[in-house]
Amino acid sequence: MRRQVLLFLSVLCVSDVQGQVSYSIPEEMAKGSVVGTIAHDLGLDVKRLKSGKARVYMGGGVGYIGLNKERGVLVIQDRIDREVLCGETSPCALHFQLILENPMELFRVAVEITDINDNSPGFTNAEKRFEISESAVIGSKFVLESAIDSDIGMNGLQKYSLTPTDNFVLKLENQADGSKKLEMVLQKPLDRETQENISLLLTAIDGGEPQMSGTMQIFVSVLDVNDNAPAFAKSLYSAKIQENAPKGTKITTVSASDKDIGSHGDVSYLISPSKRFLYEMFKIDSKSGEIILIGEIDYEKANVYQIDVEVVDSGGLSDSSKVIVEVTDVNDNHPQINIVSKSESIQEDSPTNTVIAMLSVNDPDSENNGNVECDIDHDIPFKIQTTLIGFYTLFTEVTLDRERSSEYNITVTCSDEGVPSLSSSVTLTLQISDVNDNPPVFERSSYEAYIVENNTPGLSIFTVRARDADWNQNARVSYILEDSSVNGVPVSSYVSVSADSGVIHAVRSFDYEQIKDFQFHVKAQDGGSPPLSSNVTVKILIQDQNDNPPQVLYPVQSGGSVVAEMVPRSADVGYLVTKVVAVDVDSGQNAWLSYKLQKATDRALFEVGLQNGEIRTIRQVTDKDAVKQRLTVIVEDNGQPSRSATVIVNVAVADSFPEVLSEFTDFPHDKEYNDNLTFYLVLALAVVSFLFITCLVVIISVKIYRWRQSRILYQSNLPVIPYYPPRYSDTLGTGTLQHVYNYEVCRTTDSRKSDCKFGRAGSENVLIMDPSSTGTMQRIQNEKSILDEPDSPLE
Ligand SMILES: *[C@@H]1O[C@H](CO)[C@@H](O)[C@H](O)[C@H]1NC(C)=O
Ligand SMILES: *[C@@H]1O[C@H](CO)[C@@H](O)[C@H](O)[C@H]1NC(C)=O
Repeated sequence: MRRQVLLFLSVLCVSDVQGQVSYSIPEEMAKGSVVGTIAHDLGLDVKRLKSGKARVYMGGGVGYIGLNKERGVLVIQDRIDREVLCGETSPCALHFQLILENPMELFRVAVEITDINDNSPGFTNAEKRFEISESAVIGSKFVLESAIDSDIGMNGLQKYSLTPTDNFVLKLENQADGSKKLEMVLQKPLDRETQENISLLLTAIDGGEPQMSGTMQIFVSVLDVNDNAPAFAKSLYSAKIQENAPKGTKITTVSASDKDIGSHGDVSYLISPSKRFLYEMFKIDSKSGEIILIGEIDYEKANVYQIDVEVVDSGGLSDSSKVIVEVTDVNDNHPQINIVSKSESIQEDSPTNTVIAMLSVNDPDSENNGNVECDIDHDIPFKIQTTLIGFYTLFTEVTLDRERSSEYNITVTCSDEGVPSLSSSVTLTLQISDVNDNPPVFERSSYEAYIVENNTPGLSIFTVRARDADWNQNARVSYILEDSSVNGVPVSSYVSVSADSGVIHAVRSFDYEQIKDFQFHVKAQDGGSPPLSSNVTVKILIQDQNDNPPQVLYPVQSGGSVVAEMVPRSADVGYLVTKVVAVDVDSGQNAWLSYKLQKATDRALFEVGLQNGEIRTIRQVTDKDAVKQRLTVIVEDNGQPSRSATVIVNVAVADSFPEVLSEFTDFPHDKEYNDNLTFYLVLALAVVSFLFITCLVVIISVKIYRWRQSRILYQSNLPVIPYYPPRYSDTLGTGTLQHVYNYEVCRTTDSRKSDCKFGRAGSENVLIMDPSSTGTMQRIQNEKSILDEPDSPLE
């Protein structure tokens, strides 16, 4: 198609009669390409060309185009570059001649070379570098070199483009010489911090078909200015620290960044001066931003700290942040116990659940470290209960007994629930005050005490003692003798009890022979209100003393009168002469009697049985032995010291009474007159009067009874036996008498009927000489004896 157009153009050009033909071809056609059918266009025959030795003449020029004589066409012989051939000249044409010989002919040929886009625009330097401060203002211009394109017209340089277009745009400015100035204009501020290096591509584009382009790399290094403030990584930091943490503990590290570089990016940290009071608590490392504890941290003073921190760069730009330091509690506080109120003492009969103290407990620690439980020992009768939170009440758990424990130390221990747990305790001392709830108690359930007879009145016998478990007045015991009677006599006439001491005194002197024991009650009463009391039985046993000498019952010691035992001269050895009978009203050893021969006319003739008092002969009586034998027997009891009595036994060794009588008339009276003569005189008068009256009565009685009874018994009331002991029998068997003896002293008025005898001793011959001990009596008796003598019965 294009070839056809070109061909048409060249035909139009072959209008010169001279023979001129023009062709138009594009540059850069391949060798051998046909430029034009010149033979035809010149109206020549191919033979002519041959014959004419047609040739192309191009002056001195290179043979770009040759002639093909065979075909009669012009062909490309060498590459034709329009830009080399013509440069910027336009139009560009090759002018040559076609020369023929035979005939010589000359034809002009002009071949116009048309431009094709075979050159791309290009830059001298492949790259360009700029260093631009990031603070460069908008509109700043940066000159760029222009591109060059050898092609012309549309194929020449048409336009530029710059990518990316973020910061810069291109500006083309026409200059006076018609050339254009290419500039790069800053349209958006640079930021080193976002893009430190910008790489741009400048492209120059021609208008050919196809379009061609050339590029240049532009490198922009953005230079830093201090345009960025430092910035903390977080607007709020939080950290935790234990209370009591040691100084120097690192709490946290804050960090800020500054996008600037170099000195513009150097930052230092500080705690905001508005929180100056924190300076003694915390320190910040200005370089590293490490926050360090330098004070003492106490949860109970502050449990959170807000530290305002600032960061400054060298240019003075700054930022601030906040660090919240939470203090974690450590169980470092013991519970505090306060006694709200308490009783110093309570009565022992206080009911259960009596409140004795109220406590308040407080632990400044938090959570478990501050949760407190209080308790007391479980072996004391109290309990503790919480009423309100933090308040405890102490109660009695049972009724108390002062006698078991009069004082309690109640230790309340409060512990928190921390790990490890802390505790504290307080001790309350509670006194239990006394109530009179215990009666006095005697040390023994009954008492027995001994007192030896013949005591001095007022003698203290012994002491009863009662104890009272109560206290003070309630335990002050008084002793009271309870009213009772002993043998019909009030006991108070026997004994008295000392109210304070419980000492029992004898009020009188006791005689064992009259009273051997008695008992009474002593009451012990305390001083309480009302008082309590108890009683005890006290038995007093009176002990025998050897205060009674033995008393000889037989032979009767009758003072002046002589009673003699008859021993026949024919009596054998061992003949029982008589038996000394004695009693002792004392008891026991004091009444154990022994008999000894103290004096004898002839010691070789008689002996006395040590135990039984029997007087026996120990050898045959001979005619040489005196009729009148006098034995002194001593009766001793076994008391300590022993007491004794002596008795004189007259023994008549004779076969007949007259013999005896003659011997005994001159018996000396060895009874002595009493000193108390006056008494005896009065007594004698009374007795004589009494006897006189008695005699009268007796005589009358005798007269009355004589006709009725064949014998007359006259019972003497004379005190022959001065004392008749209340107890004759000796139950111990150690006494002198085996049986109860009933002694009768008889006087016969009728010798024939006389029946007088002396118990056992009466088995022997008895001679009553004088039963009286007084002179007066003796006289009377003597008269009687004389009266009776002629008929004195002798069995
Ligand atoms: C109570 O404590 C006091 C003082 O520590 C002490 O004297 C007393 O004996 C204690 N009482 C009891 C019953 O433990
Ligand atoms: C002594 O006490 C008992 C109880 O211990 C009582 O039965 C008795 O009546 C009391 N006797 C006197 C005399 O008070």
